[in-house]
Amino acid sequence: MAEILGIDVGGTGIKGAVVDTDRGVFVTEKIKYATPRPSTPDNVADVLNQLISDFDYKGEIIGCGFPSIIKNGVCLSAANIDKSWKGVDMVKYLKETTGFRSIFVNDADAAGLAEMTYGAGRDQMGTVIMITLGTGIGSGLFVDGNLVPNTEFGHLLYKDSIFEHYASNGARKKKNLSWKAWSKVLSKYLNHLDLLLSLDLIILGGGVSKNFELYKKYLDIDTRIVQAELMNNAGIVGAATLAFEMINAPDYVPKMVQ
Ligand code: BGC
Repeated sequence: MAEILGIDVGGTGIKGAVVDTDRGVFVTEKIKYATPRPSTPDNVADVLNQLISDFDYKGEIIGCGFPSIIKNGVCLSAANIDKSWKGVDMVKYLKETTGFRSIFVNDADAAGLAEMTYGAGRDQMGTVIMITLGTGIGSGLFVDGNLVPNTEFGHLLYKDSIFEHYASNGARKKKNLSWKAWSKVLSKYLNHLDLLLSLDLIILGGGVSKNFELYKKYLDIDTRIVQAELMNNAGIVGAATLAFEMINAPDYVPKMVQ
């Protein structure tokens, strides 16, 4: 059985757990810390080291979901994380600061990989989108099970800004919106995505997944829409699973459109 430390770095919290990657379940409790302010590489590395020591982790690799565009382990954007991350070779940086080998993947891509493997998207062909509603909006797009990495659909333009600033869970809290009022703008967003992508399935995850029953009745969209089965744990599970695939087959290229 492979037990891999998965970490999900978010704009508000950093969560970790050791994952049984054969089954996609936690074998430890989940530990969460507030994202440090400022969320610079050094400050985030301190939290990652704290998690490694909390779990007394001795595995070969760490899988980390991160709220940025990531290519070949390099951070290429920083919307909800300190701007100094931009350009950082994260895999190299983690090796220097923690001593561990790691893989870094966009947080919503990680969550989507977990849902497509163990959750609501299992065996689902066609065009599937995982949308994570947290501090920001993350997107993971799958075509016949293959990930199209680093889509940034939370940043689609809306009004004077981007949809993330109106339809994320962060925006709901900030503007103190009722579930009904928030669902209205969320429906507008999801319908817009559907118009662009002709979706077969929408999986909603992120911090607000546990409240799905409270707002699903207000969502006005024809496409099939389901709650993430792994709820807000999907990012941790997906990052750990991807990391496991990397150790056992160093040349393995994740099932994604490159
Ligand atoms: C970032 C994405 C991330 C999403 C959710 C957005 O602001 O640009 O890369 O997936 O937030 O964390």
